[in-house]
Amino acid sequence: MSKDKVQIFDTTLRDGEQVPGCKLDTKQKLVIAERLDNLGVDVIEAGFPISSPGDFKSVSEIAGIVKNATVCGLTRSVKKDIEVAAEALKPARKPRIHTGIGTSDSHIKFKFKSDKDRILERAVDAVAYAKTFVEDVEFYAEDAGRTDNEYLARVCEAVIKAGATVLNIPDTTGYCLPEEYGAKMKYLKENVTGIDKAILSCHCHNDLGLATANSIAGVINGARQIECTINGIGERAGNTSLEEVVMILRQHPYLNLDTNINSKLLLDTSQMVSHKMGMPVQPNKAIVGANAFAHSSGIHQDGVIKKRETYEIINPEDVGVTESSIVLTARSGRAALAYRAKKVGYELTKVQLDKVYQTFLQFADRQKEIKDEDIHVIIENSNINLEVLYK
Ligand code: KIV
Ligand code: ZN
Repeated sequence: MSKDKVQIFDTTLRDGEQVPGCKLDTKQKLVIAERLDNLGVDVIEAGFPISSPGDFKSVSEIAGIVKNATVCGLTRSVKKDIEVAAEALKPARKPRIHTGIGTSDSHIKFKFKSDKDRILERAVDAVAYAKTFVEDVEFYAEDAGRTDNEYLARVCEAVIKAGATVLNIPDTTGYCLPEEYGAKMKYLKENVTGIDKAILSCHCHNDLGLATANSIAGVINGARQIECTINGIGERAGNTSLEEVVMILRQHPYLNLDTNINSKLLLDTSQMVSHKMGMPVQPNKAIVGANAFAHSSGIHQDGVIKKRETYEIINPEDVGVTESSIVLTARSGRAALAYRAKKVGYELTKVQLDKVYQTFLQFADRQKEIKDEDIHVIIENSNINLEVLYK
């Protein structure tokens, strides 16, 4: 049975770039946009054109070079924003305007000093106006995570009537629990007339570390687009991480959902974005962290050397990692030492290994990690016949 496709909407260059100190220039953005296009993302949110002349230029130039993906520009529900975004998106083969407004009580009352009916009217007007420039209009209900479902459904129904093709349901503050976010999607699926004319989209923030879990709950309950960033970068604790949602769907085939992403490019893309933004990836980051496929305890190492799958649920090659690594520390056992010694040219017999292992432990207790060059020194200090050993 063919799997349902979940569209990947990458917002590294818009929500991701909102990280303090990570601003990119147009040239850097163009290189990243090209890479995202090759990676297979369906939509690239290139920026917020009215926000600055630099952002306008970036969106416009990205629109001109992207070959496959839809190129999207963000706006508020403000006519001038929409006009400027439409202008910036002119060179795009597939342009999308992403317009919207806050729908939670606190946004309506404190940000807009308005009421629910007037906000609904502004939402509809914005979508209808965007529709006069482009066919593909995505509407975001900012702070949908804290918006009551009945009002959210009313807004969604009205903007679909006005021509919205995608409904973005952002958990702007990262507040929802996965069950709650999933139930919100289900409610909209079941209570919005005309919902089949639009795609529901997950846009989750990571303030409680739940952005990925919430996005997955969203697609399990009927959403068919996930908005995410490379390495999960974004304001505060970040956005949903692209590499995580892609690999979760791929590693759980019974969900019957997949994306168009070429996962073999994930590591390279992660490293490229990290380098250009000057934002290091934490070593224990899922999928793309330096330790994601590294094993250091003796029990795990022994298992992985015998059969990789004992401690790995993803084949590292599938995400562009050449191979799993066996890290030598004081917690490592003989199997790991023999494995790494062989890699640098020593085939040890059992008796030799016992001797080398004792020397190894003395070294390992003194330093955090034993590198290839240390293995030579350890063997030299183990009082065994090198001629016999060296291959
Ligand atoms: O988090 C959010 O609500 C957003 C919208 C502007 C889409 O980024
Ligand atoms: Zn956001």
